[in-house]
Amino acid sequence: MKDLIIDPSRIAETVKTKTYQLANIVLSPFFASNKRSSSRRIINILLLPFICFAFLLVFPLRPPLPPSYAEEHAIERALMRELQMPSAVEATDGKYVSFAPIKETAYEPYHVVDSILPIPLQWPMISSRIPMSALLDSIGSGFEAFYRKRRAVPLSHLKQVCSSSETAVVRLGTMDREEAMHENGIHKMERMVKELMDPKLPRCVQVEHNPFDRDFFESRSPIDLYETLHTSPVLKHFSFSTRVLSIINRSLELLSPDSTPYPEEIEHVKNPRKVLPWKNVLALHLRKSSDSHYCTSLGERNAPFVGFNKLSGLPGNENIPPSSDMPKPAVLGLYRAKCDPETLEIIARARRMRANHPLLNTLYILSNADYNFIEETKRWLVSDGWHTIVTSTDIGSLWSDQEVLEAVDTEIALFGAFE
Ligand SMILES: *[C@@H]1O[C@H](CO)[C@@H](O)[C@H](O)[C@H]1NC(C)=O
Repeated sequence: MKDLIIDPSRIAETVKTKTYQLANIVLSPFFASNKRSSSRRIINILLLPFICFAFLLVFPLRPPLPPSYAEEHAIERALMRELQMPSAVEATDGKYVSFAPIKETAYEPYHVVDSILPIPLQWPMISSRIPMSALLDSIGSGFEAFYRKRRAVPLSHLKQVCSSSETAVVRLGTMDREEAMHENGIHKMERMVKELMDPKLPRCVQVEHNPFDRDFFESRSPIDLYETLHTSPVLKHFSFSTRVLSIINRSLELLSPDSTPYPEEIEHVKNPRKVLPWKNVLALHLRKSSDSHYCTSLGERNAPFVGFNKLSGLPGNENIPPSSDMPKPAVLGLYRAKCDPETLEIIARARRMRANHPLLNTLYILSNADYNFIEETKRWLVSDGWHTIVTSTDIGSLWSDQEVLEAVDTEIALFGAFE
């Protein structure tokens, strides 16, 4: 009986003694005070980095260290070697253009944070840049050869083959803002192509400003360009990386039990993938703005809202921008509900979608909101009768998944789209 009594003060005493002994063993060599041991002290201090190194070798810090992307880096290095072969078009009459400021689309690493360190000083640890091929497969798949076009190359390759004297920096589509808002998107694109094809330009061209900025997406241009874009090789052969697809593959049973899994090898070059919508999934994008001023500013200038949302096949944005006789408070409320919705508005919206599409039973939530907001919204939606509610953190739980979840979100949203 006596043995079972746990005395907290005795345990604390034992822990204190043990800690003291341990600290003594580890630290005493560094603080030995007599003269003879001072050289030993220096040796011990010099040994410290090796002890730390050996410790890291035995107990590697992963997680929380971010993934290494070794496979993707190896693929990109192999590609660069291939591009330098005499038989490669790129090696013989290489003309290059870098769209580096369009960070998310140029073939350069995807920058998560601007830092020269590979892992920025923040917690939890993340990579400061991710190889583009970890997100997108089509960036290096070589589909361009199918159309006898030069392929996209990594920025590092471009820097190797173009000296600064043969590189021109250009600014595409510089125009008056008012004019830019009203110019037809196709004209805008043709004008930019003409600027790039200018024979006076040297072999290598660097675009220094992103022409696809907020003004572009608020103008009619994306709608004008939609037909051209969606039949273009770039989109027809578009695919996220195997890393991304296999995350979804693992959870297919939960998301859409009837759909076929992704093939092991992505073979979209010869057979572009056809996306068949998952009839049971509603992808719900809950954007939480850290900049509350942005949502108000949309209302204040009756913004036409973001381009592709105005495609006629997409439901729900018919009332944006609102008619000019709507009172200002109502306008601001309308934009706030679209831009920064509250839980009740989210539930009502999901309910309206389900009323129009009775096969819906699964919600996929794409959100940058914090954990508590998402969990609370999930609870409300469950009580509103949704059978399955999933977010990217539910399906991408491995540490190697963590940094590509935005691509997972986008791929699933593609399936959850309506016709
Ligand atoms: C998807 O899963 C199937 C089997 O369920 C497997 O054969 C295939 O290789 C997986 N694809 C990817 C991209 O992981």
